[in-house]
Amino acid sequence: MKFYITTPIYYVNAKPHIGHAYTTLAADVIARAHKLKGDDTFFLTGTDEHGAKVAEAAGLAGKSPQAFSDEIAELFKSAWANLGIEYSDFIRTTEPRHEAGVTAFLGVLKKNNALYEGEYRGLYCTGCENFITEKELVDGLCPVHKKKPQEVVEKNWFFKLSKYLAQVGELISSDKLKVGPNSAKKEALGLVRQGLEDFSVSREKVKWGIPLPWDESQTVYVWVDALLNYVTARGYPQLSKTAWPADLQLVGKDILKFHAIYWPAMLLAAGLPPQRELFVHGYFSIDGQKMSKSLGNVIDPNDLVKEYGADGARYLILSQFPFGQDGDIKVEKFKEQFNADLANGIGNLVSRTANLIEKNFDGAFDKKEPQAPDEGFDALLSGNRIDEALKSVVSGFGELDKKIDEQKLWNLVKENKNQANKILSDIANEILALARKLAPFLPVAAEKIIKQFSAKKIKKGEPMFPRK
Ligand code: MSP
Repeated sequence: MKFYITTPIYYVNAKPHIGHAYTTLAADVIARAHKLKGDDTFFLTGTDEHGAKVAEAAGLAGKSPQAFSDEIAELFKSAWANLGIEYSDFIRTTEPRHEAGVTAFLGVLKKNNALYEGEYRGLYCTGCENFITEKELVDGLCPVHKKKPQEVVEKNWFFKLSKYLAQVGELISSDKLKVGPNSAKKEALGLVRQGLEDFSVSREKVKWGIPLPWDESQTVYVWVDALLNYVTARGYPQLSKTAWPADLQLVGKDILKFHAIYWPAMLLAAGLPPQRELFVHGYFSIDGQKMSKSLGNVIDPNDLVKEYGADGARYLILSQFPFGQDGDIKVEKFKEQFNADLANGIGNLVSRTANLIEKNFDGAFDKKEPQAPDEGFDALLSGNRIDEALKSVVSGFGELDKKIDEQKLWNLVKENKNQANKILSDIANEILALARKLAPFLPVAAEKIIKQFSAKKIKKGEPMFPRK
């Protein structure tokens, strides 16, 4: 089976933080699980480089938007490499392949009579890269960025959303476009009911963007430009049968409207099927506060990798709260959790089991054939309940640890060698089975465990997660 999964493409106005890492890691876990099942898997991520927000950030850094984007895009790539994220492709919206695809797509929208010329009079928040209504303001400010939006009067080309909105609503309510979790589906249907206005596909006063092919006074609106990455990366306008639709698109709740409504509407207008599934995860705060540069509480995923290793960082980021809900991260708890679940948990269990087998049974145990796939576990993963799937594996290791304690295996090996051998073999086989489930989450640790317990002679080895 083929499986195509995407993350949002992140703005290059600043370096990556753990919010970006959260979505990208989740996609990596799901992609790895599919690869391990033998699916023909394609995992796309990338960077969103056009628009006023990026141009402003570049200006503040005294660099051209392109030079600035080049630098920040590299920071995203290296952060993902440090976290052990294995994407199939990384698309940058300033690449010629993307620009060509965007130009082609807009031509199709125009030909299909989905666009019209008009004037936009209203407010724009560059932080959001979005048009904003008077109603949405709080004390005259953008509620997200706490900044006064710009008053804009300019010519724009508009997309006839009204023509496609009912159809998008039907796709979502019938689950032909599955939107999860249920709260996100409700929100999307609420937006359809409320009736969104037509949106701009181009801007007049933004120079850092892709020129509109038939109207050089305009550049493509950055959100339209960005959404198209999901098809341009697969070769649009030459899409092979397996290249589209995406099977799963992951996004944070901040960008639900663009992905649940605008994007499928654009696809319908261009004669393409909508994505199969959109899963919208929650937002997290840090110690009760919104993560922001001005508060100085932004967590760099590279710092977590330095402290806890790639697998440790992956574990800490993915295990904080249910995928699909909001949550709060308490940074001072990271160390405690690392020690409890990884150092004293999985790491210690693996090393004490290997040690008992090495010392008492010459490094050998009675190996069983790998078990049939665990349906319950697969269901958690395919339902995007990745935190629960991860927890079930970690608690599985915990159960084995308890077994060693309860059976006092260190005594049993002296008192009843046969019995001890049987129990230890069971534990070792279970460890192998759990390591296979752990592989998409903590790939390095899982591979080490599998190697260690598949060897002819098992050795205790170095501690996998040294205590902090
Ligand atoms: N460039 C647009 C997306 C275009 S996709 C066609 C954009 N970029 S962004 O850099 O702002 O990234 C937003 C995404 O980053 C969120 O949807 C989410 O995936 C992730 N997160 C950013 N901050 C986050 C949290 N505090 N918590 C969880 N996820 C967060 O929007």
